Amino acid sequence: MLLIMTAFYSGSLRSSSVSDYFKRTLRAARRTLSGVNSPLLLVVALMAFTLSAPYSVAQSVVLSVDASKAGAKIDRNIFGQFAEHLGHGVYEGIWVGPESKIPNTRGIRTDVVTALKAIKVPNVRWPGGCFADEYHWRNGIGSPRVVTLNPNWGGVIDPNTFGTHEFMDFIDQIRSEAYVSVNIGSGTPKEAADWLEYMTTAQPTTLEKERAANGHSAPYKVAYLGLGNESWDCGGNMTPEYYVDQMKVYSRFVRNYNPAQQEKQQMLKIAVGPGGGEPRWTEWTEAIMKAYQQHTWSWDINGLSMHSYTVVHGWPPSYASVGFGEAEYAQVLKSTLDMDGLIAKHSAIMDKYDPDKKVTLVVDEWGSWYAPLPGSNPGFLVQQNSMRDAVLAALNLNIFARHADRVRMANIAQMINVLQAMILTDKEKMVLTPTYYVFKMYLPFQDATFVPVSFDAGTYKHGDVTLPRVDALAAKGKDGKLWLEVTNVDPNEPVEVELNLTGIAAKSATGETLTAPKVDSINTFDAPNTVLPKPFSAKTEGGKLTLKLDPKSVTVVSVEP
Ligand code: AHR
Repeated sequence: MLLIMTAFYSGSLRSSSVSDYFKRTLRAARRTLSGVNSPLLLVVALMAFTLSAPYSVAQSVVLSVDASKAGAKIDRNIFGQFAEHLGHGVYEGIWVGPESKIPNTRGIRTDVVTALKAIKVPNVRWPGGCFADEYHWRNGIGSPRVVTLNPNWGGVIDPNTFGTHEFMDFIDQIRSEAYVSVNIGSGTPKEAADWLEYMTTAQPTTLEKERAANGHSAPYKVAYLGLGNESWDCGGNMTPEYYVDQMKVYSRFVRNYNPAQQEKQQMLKIAVGPGGGEPRWTEWTEAIMKAYQQHTWSWDINGLSMHSYTVVHGWPPSYASVGFGEAEYAQVLKSTLDMDGLIAKHSAIMDKYDPDKKVTLVVDEWGSWYAPLPGSNPGFLVQQNSMRDAVLAALNLNIFARHADRVRMANIAQMINVLQAMILTDKEKMVLTPTYYVFKMYLPFQDATFVPVSFDAGTYKHGDVTLPRVDALAAKGKDGKLWLEVTNVDPNEPVEVELNLTGIAAKSATGETLTAPKVDSINTFDAPNTVLPKPFSAKTEGGKLTLKLDPKSVTVVSVEP
């Protein structure tokens, strides 16, 4: 007791020195007794605390799943990525050039391609972002390339060595689909129309011949077309009315000529949508959707973009991506859950004008946005990626899945070296982030069918923040199996999830779990395996199938008969 008291008082307790039970009891005691200042009072209070009934047994949650009830398809496109010409997102992150000593295929780094192939990236949005509305595609074809500036992101040089052909090669190498954003802000409808003709026509036009001369005779597939980016801000500060007029013109004239995309696999056009929940944004959604409702044969849209970053306390982002504590963990996760209300708000407006839900709400920029890492170029948006980001990613993916009937596409920002990245690189080194592993664990949910779950999540409290303790997602995978994801948000307490399954016999559950020693644990080039999924399994005992989940963990299992 005296030993524990000393450890408690001095804060020197080490994890290896006591059992899990004691660690949790002490943590709980520390939280409960944090206001007690007198050493004598503290001794008495701590003795009473320790001798009282066991405090830290795992919390129990009953998760009911009726496997016979099917909801919407969880479109694989919600696992999309975003690669902007920003910092080291494209240059160094993807493109090292064919002469580089870093192993590459036609200039595209091999390690990155291998890692991305493993998470089956469904689509990649490119070239921006704000960059897209200043991008002129002709600078990025042929030889020599035109060297330009990137005024949005640090004012650095863009050598344009990564252009249309290189992007399409990259998409091909990772077996993904192209989501190309055209320049409405500083370009013209003709420039965008020419770009699409250059990429997609099979007819012997001058642009087709130019493409062939540049090394690609077959037409490229452009699966998705972004009609500008944030046109209410960096994309040109347009009013909704002005943008609606532009959107119609671009939708009309920027055509995809690829013969394979005329009947099936038609290119989907995505209009600029809201960037928040305030009246300015609801009015924007109203304007676009009202126009859509009245659209004629000559133009159409298939998606409305929405951007929402997790930023606590507004802009500029001030929270650190490393070296933070439980308070910042709780606050960031509370903030990220706002995504649900935001989707609900804009979906409700869309429902008014599009009750059949033909237009997808495309959350094509989401993720955590923290203060730049000290010493980095602030224009490069460099941040680390921790266990907190893994939990954040799972919570958002579950929100998207719960809105699967309207949210059929999303793109985390951004894929490599920028914001909430999958991958970090430094010259020849590469490390996979906790967020990467969440995307990998969620592979069974790509194109799975949503199955409703019900549970009493309980609460996790820290300071003035209260959060649901657990979150969960269920779906019938394309493999026919029932897949479950359960997130234990609580960073201190384990949780026991008892599965109450209807419509499926279950003897065991197997899969993977991702957790880490601390909420701010990260993977680094020197220690890449700190946050790594581990095999997970549970068997029926006494007729019950119970998942025992670690604190701050993301777990994905299939239920086995
Ligand atoms: O992802 C970084 C930037 O955030 C994008 O360029 C822009 O669209 C958004 O404001």
